[in-house]
Amino acid sequence: MDKLSFTETPTPIHFFNKFYSNHIYIKRDDCTDLALGGNKARKLEYFLADAIEKKANCIVTYGAPQSNHCRLTAAAASKLGLKTLLILSKTANPTFDGNYFLYKLFDVEIIWTDVEKVSETIEHTLKNLGEKGYNPYFIQGGGHGNLGTHAYKKTFDEILEQQKDIQTNFEYIFHASGTGTTQAGLIAGKLINDFSTNIVGISVARNNKRGKEVIYESLIDYFDENGITIPPKLNEIIFEDSYVGKGYAHIYPEIVEIIKKVAKKSGILLDPVYTGKAFYGMLEYIKKHEIMNKDILFIHTGGTPLLFNYADKFEEE
Ligand SMILES: Cc1ncc(COP(=O)(O)O)c(C=O)c1O
Repeated sequence: MDKLSFTETPTPIHFFNKFYSNHIYIKRDDCTDLALGGNKARKLEYFLADAIEKKANCIVTYGAPQSNHCRLTAAAASKLGLKTLLILSKTANPTFDGNYFLYKLFDVEIIWTDVEKVSETIEHTLKNLGEKGYNPYFIQGGGHGNLGTHAYKKTFDEILEQQKDIQTNFEYIFHASGTGTTQAGLIAGKLINDFSTNIVGISVARNNKRGKEVIYESLIDYFDENGITIPPKLNEIIFEDSYVGKGYAHIYPEIVEIIKKVAKKSGILLDPVYTGKAFYGMLEYIKKHEIMNKDILFIHTGGTPLLFNYADKFEEE
């Protein structure tokens, strides 16, 4: 598959600390080179290569007002000299700092939509752009789709090389799971390489049933498109929804605490919506499942601007 380069790889893996006799390492996908980094930079390397091949001159995507995916799409498209149009869903109390502020640096055009009208707004927008003479390329919210899955299949391959270099074997890989695309890619990598790594997605929003189903469908799609005949197994997908709290972007005190602890100990900044929730979830999961004496990798998938967006949550009482 064609690929552009928006970041240097491999991203580093750092030893973080010992926890319950396990060795915890962090892979720094928050350090991908584009506009404050994150997992979407890797996905966009494939999506935008496809857009260029299809001679697109305008990139359209969808997200929340504070979407990491929209920030990185705008940055990548702008770098290639392409117009970006963001379709943003109206949320209850939108804020205009964090990622939203960064969109503005890339001269994006924004169209607001009610959550129930997302599909029709996307359809109208693409039609209107076509009528104006543009050749638009649409990327699903969160960089969902086979090219996104492929980006994290390749990341799994990258981890295998890195673990050889540091003479370890990660029996567990934890990360924040949203659309499930990152997780589908990692699982694809594990199955194709015939590894037994436990890939644990800590849900940031979805319930277990829906989360698993979407990952399963992503795997089927990806394998079908690439002629891979391994059958994925729904009940082997580990999608953990116990740490979602009251839903997407619900930030409870334990998340704030863990973000502070990790920052003070290592200088690594987690965010409250994705990686802080996932890191907290990982530690709880390790305790609950009595995981001991393992080498464990946490993939830091980015989200740094969200820290500024939720600064009020960090004010001392
Ligand atoms: C910082 C961060 N981490 C993790 C995720 C989840 O990735 P995926 O949608 O591939 O599950 C996202 C997606 O929005 C994200 O922005």
